[in-house]
Amino acid sequence: MPDTTEARIAAAARINTAMAHPARVYDYLLDGKDNFAADREAAEKLIELSPGTREGVRAHRAFLGRAVRYLAEAGVAQFLDIGTGIPTQGNTHEIAQQVNPEARVVYVDNDPIVLVHGRALLTGSPAGRTTVIEADLRQPDVILSHPETRAVIDFTRPVAIVLAGVLHFITDQEDPHGAVEHYKNAVPAGSHLLLSHITLDFAPQVRKEDFTKPYDKSSAPMVPRTHAEVTRFFDGWNVVDPGVVEVVDWRPDEGAQREDIPGGGHAWAYGGVATKP
Ligand SMILES: C[S@@+](CC[C@H](N)C(=O)[O-])C[C@H]1O[C@@H](n2cnc3c(N)ncnc32)[C@H](O)[C@@H]1O
Repeated sequence: MPDTTEARIAAAARINTAMAHPARVYDYLLDGKDNFAADREAAEKLIELSPGTREGVRAHRAFLGRAVRYLAEAGVAQFLDIGTGIPTQGNTHEIAQQVNPEARVVYVDNDPIVLVHGRALLTGSPAGRTTVIEADLRQPDVILSHPETRAVIDFTRPVAIVLAGVLHFITDQEDPHGAVEHYKNAVPAGSHLLLSHITLDFAPQVRKEDFTKPYDKSSAPMVPRTHAEVTRFFDGWNVVDPGVVEVVDWRPDEGAQREDIPGGGHAWAYGGVATKP
């Protein structure tokens, strides 16, 4: 992975600590250390509203791990992981390279803090390749034509597009479905889409405006979506069993306990995997 001290210093200079950022709110909820007061305040507001937030976030992260393992075991060797988050336990390349040391991963995030930590921590096995780029999901052409993306991923071979926990930071006006179609069109048959998304379908007692409020002063809005809206991201592709389901229900590990999540056992997120026909 190319790594220059200058690039990291430049990225560090762009970090705005006064405003909550999704990557750092998520880091705090996963017991990480790369967060600031504004992030912790936003996270604590979410916990007030939903006491199961921390456990739900962990369940979401665990879904990502199971789904990446599923894909690696199915033979997928290239991953384009957009909305990477700050490196934590069970990063995509670690899981994929446990199955296939030659797996290649391009990480993409628009928060410079991810680049700062990612360049240092998201290094892969010598046999595979891993890189991190700072770019925005809403600019598919920039990501798909980026020299580092092109150096790591061969777009004539199947690719797993990973969009875990990121599309709910894109408003309808910004056309998240259009962006996802763009990525889907860039990869060949046999490719996969791994996607997870926050929903309020399991929390009828919660008002949408209360849930989204902690993000009002953050760098990105929060847009929960319904099952139909999330399922639409997979349009035209074959969704693998068990479908687009609550993340805790997606091929759970043996002995997994839904009751571990306070407040009814719901993780408030859908997840699914699909294959391009
Ligand atoms: C909740 S974290 C999810 C991390 C990881 N994918 C997971 O599921 O565990 C969301 C990440 O998406 C990133 N993000 C939000 N909006 C983005 C955008 N428009 N383009 C790229 N990344 C974005 C945030 O910076 C953050 O790191």
